[in-house]
Amino acid sequence: MDQLKSKVAPADGKLAVLLPGMGAVATTFIAGVEAIKAGLAKPIGLLTQMAHIRLGKRSEKRWSMIKDFVPLAKLEDLVFGGWDPIPDDAYTAAAKAKVLSPEHLAQLKPALEKIKPMAAVFDRNVVKRLDGTHFKKGTKRELANALIQDIRGFMDKNKCARAVMVWCASTEAYQEAGPEHQSLAAFEKALDADSPNIFPSQIYAYAAISCGVPYLNGAPNLSADFPAMIEYAEKKGVAIGGKDFKTGQTLMKTIIAPGLKARMLGMDGWFSTNILGNRDGEVLDDPANFKTKEVSKLSVLEQILEPEKYPELYGDLHHKVSIHYYKPRGDNKEGWDNIDIVGWMGYPMQIKVNFLCRDSILAAPIVLDLALFGDFAARAGMKGIQEWLSFYFKSPQHAASVYPEHDLFVQKVRLENNLRYIMGEELINYLGSDYTNE
Ligand SMILES: NC(=O)c1ccc[n+]([C@@H]2O[C@H](COP(=O)([O-])OP(=O)(O)OC[C@H]3O[C@@H](n4cnc5c(N)ncnc54)[C@H](O)[C@@H]3O)[C@@H](O)[C@H]2O)c1
Repeated sequence: MDQLKSKVAPADGKLAVLLPGMGAVATTFIAGVEAIKAGLAKPIGLLTQMAHIRLGKRSEKRWSMIKDFVPLAKLEDLVFGGWDPIPDDAYTAAAKAKVLSPEHLAQLKPALEKIKPMAAVFDRNVVKRLDGTHFKKGTKRELANALIQDIRGFMDKNKCARAVMVWCASTEAYQEAGPEHQSLAAFEKALDADSPNIFPSQIYAYAAISCGVPYLNGAPNLSADFPAMIEYAEKKGVAIGGKDFKTGQTLMKTIIAPGLKARMLGMDGWFSTNILGNRDGEVLDDPANFKTKEVSKLSVLEQILEPEKYPELYGDLHHKVSIHYYKPRGDNKEGWDNIDIVGWMGYPMQIKVNFLCRDSILAAPIVLDLALFGDFAARAGMKGIQEWLSFYFKSPQHAASVYPEHDLFVQKVRLENNLRYIMGEELINYLGSDYTNE
């Protein structure tokens, strides 16, 4: 196992963090990193900056901070870039998003206003509620080539040794993989034929992989989750992962549902609804775009509860999810969950969750952890789907032969064991043998 550790390239030099989409999440993320660097904020919500990991047996009393255990890029070495069809610089975009207070933003203005988006690859047909003006023109092949030039040009200009791409742009209209997504050859043929079935997020993923840049997908878009792109990532030796940042209601679902299931409590229904008024909410107000999000959100309970194994407990579950665009709330989403559970002798009970959250405040640290772990995966020579990063996603990308893991705590064990494995440490199986041997 030590052989793997010795193969992890050091995190020397600058790391380009490339963000398609420089809206609320992306600008809150950049602002937060700048605030942490300036000592204005603590790195709350980040495993890579705050979490400890246990090493060896409990009796060894060896704990390390993840950032000391694994060679990760330093925050000082990150350089931010991105694309957006709205030409606002990161300061203006953050001010419009109204996630952070004007006082907070004023302190970060010099760093943020320098970051200007590159012209996007954008298609109004897949994000109807957005009026973009700052986008590239050309055939899909030309657009892919232009993005490749952007990536290389950005890295050269900023003297970056490596790059990682995290999709922070809008949710596209719902799409299922078609014939053009089944193999790399079919995808490239469709790219050359300027097929309308190749959506912008797929062109970004293709460009990233072409440049050897890990691609992590924060939206539920198909993007890199189809056979052609997985084949390309494997072929080029590039790490990919997705989909859809796990924040808010789905985060709560993957915390609460595994607990109820662990106690073999039944469930008749889970009703989730929320209101939010940011641009993401506006885009999701279009039924075609909401469908993409709905599929991502609905998949969670099915896998955790396994109704096929437990028909008496979960066989008749009614799971309902809705999102309502309600402008006054801005980024401050309010979610309501009603969970109808069933206990001893079939007696019903209810759990109510009222989560007053802040969407981008929950998503921003995920962007940083994904960027740092994505870069680490690349330096460790890992390629293809990075299932160990499922912890961060609502709808984890997974191999076709296995089911996705949604339980947050299983996902965390998996993430930590993956780090231990690469770094040549014993995997922890929680058998408790250190106790019984003492
Ligand atoms: N905030 C959360 O809790 C959360 C959780 C899960 C997923 N997400 C997803 O993250 C994404 C970003 O959310 P947000 O709140 O920042 O939304 P936002 O609307 O504020 O920002 C998205 C940005 O992407 C830009 N964009 C759209 N199409 C683009 C393209 N083709 N190329 C480049 N830029 C493009 C838009 O102009 C906009 O500035 C959304 O897809 C959202 O569904 C957010």
